[in-house]
Amino acid sequence: VKHVKLVKYIANLGYGSRRDVASLLAAGRITGRDGHVLGETADVANDEILIDGEPLDPPPGVVVMLHKPVGYVCSTKDADRLVYELLSARFPLRSPIIAPVGRLDRDTSGLLLLTDDGQLNHRLTSPRTHLRKVYDVQLADDLRGDEAAVFASGTLLLDGETTPLQPAMLEQLDSRHARIAVTEGRYHQVRRMFAALGNRVDALQRFAIGDLTLDGLPVGEWRVLNESDREKLLSSRGA
Ligand code: URA
Repeated sequence: VKHVKLVKYIANLGYGSRRDVASLLAAGRITGRDGHVLGETADVANDEILIDGEPLDPPPGVVVMLHKPVGYVCSTKDADRLVYELLSARFPLRSPIIAPVGRLDRDTSGLLLLTDDGQLNHRLTSPRTHLRKVYDVQLADDLRGDEAAVFASGTLLLDGETTPLQPAMLEQLDSRHARIAVTEGRYHQVRRMFAALGNRVDALQRFAIGDLTLDGLPVGEWRVLNESDREKLLSSRGA
């Protein structure tokens, strides 16, 4: 990587303007793992670069999973707390930005993916991909008993919509506790599905996307997906 490219590369990771990064480079604050100062013509991989001794943020094409707490919104600007406050402050400054894959409501917790790979983001959110999103649902009232059949029918029409929902799978765990797998990501979908049957969702947590689960990641924490995570993500399709 040539000097100019290194500056541009690091600037695009959200470390500042190209001018800011050029001055970090000039000040000798960007080094290799062995401590040698990088300069004009540095031909180094992302994981070999340190800034002030700290490893560089993940390279472009990253997918991150966050265990989203209740009370945070999937947006870059809002009066409420933002999921970006839980991630690196540089993530929303990157070009391209690390953006949420679909959204979770402010009051929904659980598995949220974010990526700077626009094509992958589109693929993961498209209903045509039939990617299974699994939620744990706490309800205000007892289940009636017909929910699984109605959700599986592929004919349920939500308020104000003109196309029925794709079939969804419901597993009852308790009188007011269920697990539901959906393949779409319509606005407030799960809450509206139960509202359509006269119930109300009290608590909603997403615990899986495809075969990828939170797997012990503490609430509020995040990590970068590895190859095996990515395989789990796209290995299983359909509700
Ligand atoms: N369905 C909802 O109602 N909310 C979410 O955040 C996700 C699915």
